[in-house]
Amino acid sequence: MRRTRRIRAIVAVSATMVLAAGMAVAISTSANAATTLGAAAAQSGRYFGAATNSFMLNRQPHATVLNREFNSIVAENEMKWYHTEPNQNQFNFTAGDQLIAHARARGMTVRGHTLVWHAQQPAWAENMSGTALRNAMINHINRVAGHWRGQIHSWDVVNEAFADGGSGARRDSNLQRTGNDWIEVAFRTARAADPGAKLCYNDYNTDGINAKSTAIYNMVRDFKARGVPIDCVGLQSHLGTTLDPTYQQNIQRFADLGVDVQITELDIQQGANQANMYGQVTRACLAVARCTGITVWGVLDPDSWRTGANPLLFDGNGNKKPAYDAVLNALNAGGNNPPPPTTAPPPVTTPPPSGGGCSASVSLNSWNGGFVATVRVTAGSSAINGWRVRLTVPSGATVTGSWNANRSGNTGAVDWTNVDYNGRVAAGQSTEFGFQATGNGSIPTPSCTAS
Ligand code: XIL
Repeated sequence: MRRTRRIRAIVAVSATMVLAAGMAVAISTSANAATTLGAAAAQSGRYFGAATNSFMLNRQPHATVLNREFNSIVAENEMKWYHTEPNQNQFNFTAGDQLIAHARARGMTVRGHTLVWHAQQPAWAENMSGTALRNAMINHINRVAGHWRGQIHSWDVVNEAFADGGSGARRDSNLQRTGNDWIEVAFRTARAADPGAKLCYNDYNTDGINAKSTAIYNMVRDFKARGVPIDCVGLQSHLGTTLDPTYQQNIQRFADLGVDVQITELDIQQGANQANMYGQVTRACLAVARCTGITVWGVLDPDSWRTGANPLLFDGNGNKKPAYDAVLNALNAGGNNPPPPTTAPPPVTTPPPSGGGCSASVSLNSWNGGFVATVRVTAGSSAINGWRVRLTVPSGATVTGSWNANRSGNTGAVDWTNVDYNGRVAAGQSTEFGFQATGNGSIPTPSCTAS
């Protein structure tokens, strides 16, 4: 009896304390409002980023503003194909490494932009076609995403692959002419090369419900239905002087497909409506739980690629513009929290063996003259510490590159063994490796031996 009363008394006291604490929080919200874009976005679990270049990292006032305001960066140009692979199979990661080091030292995340795009290709790739180009693309993704494996928050795997206007068609390009499946091959390759990065499709003129955004929506829906790995859609949002009234609705419909949405290259024409539009875009993102971050395409107006448009949040002296206040206030007003990050297990195509050991299954992405194989290794009822998969490459086919495994040869019966980071597989769990090959044909179910 005495005990019960005491508990009741404690409950009453704590309830009063909670109420008091709640009031204190409510009253001091504006006093405690975050004073930078990154911190304000982080209150709802989002990031706020900016595009920059390695040669600007020590340039003032760019550097001070970048480091103070943003908690994410993206390379404006230095991770593009022409920059990272200027000659075929000769890679240049210096600038990207510098950007990543800068970000990591400051707790910023990094968006990767972009693995494959019809524009800003190196001349050698522009001049390629067919299987040679397809293989070069796969190699590029493997090497670039592999180099920065584990360090990229989200990759724009494919950029701007759809045509403008009402057709809803793919844009014609050398990449598109390698076969309509080039986008899904790029995504599967990127997943294997950096399983920790979110994989995005990124495009412009998609800032509302229109024929182009609907074509992308249909592609994403199809990818989700067929298990093509896609995690996010980037809306570039290079905007003029009015905002499409369906801007938020469009974000929401992508989110409803089960992908994140990111505003990836935001800049808005200077004018009477600039601050208001910046506020609207920010609020639209905050209203959709799966809209997880915003990136502006530059820091200071004179940095912008849109010369004369002054479309950014800071003037050339690093002063905050009214558009800045509109964004900060919108972020501080809060929004729906994004769902906690989940890494959805990939669909299992073959049941794990009932005993110990392991099994392997293979899926192919083929085009005329070549293919990419993804091989899944699944542990049985006990954990394994290593594996060897024997797989027969179709006759006439030759393996030209592989990832996440060592291999004994490139034709006929090939043994693939784990590398140091993927040998240990928990009971019933899977890991993947992959390879690309010239030639065609089918592959019988490989055998797997655990070690
Ligand atoms: C732009 C850069 O800002 C410029 O410096 C460069 O000269 C051309 O590319 N869509 C994209 C970005 O995905 O990569 C583009 O960036 C802008 C349009």
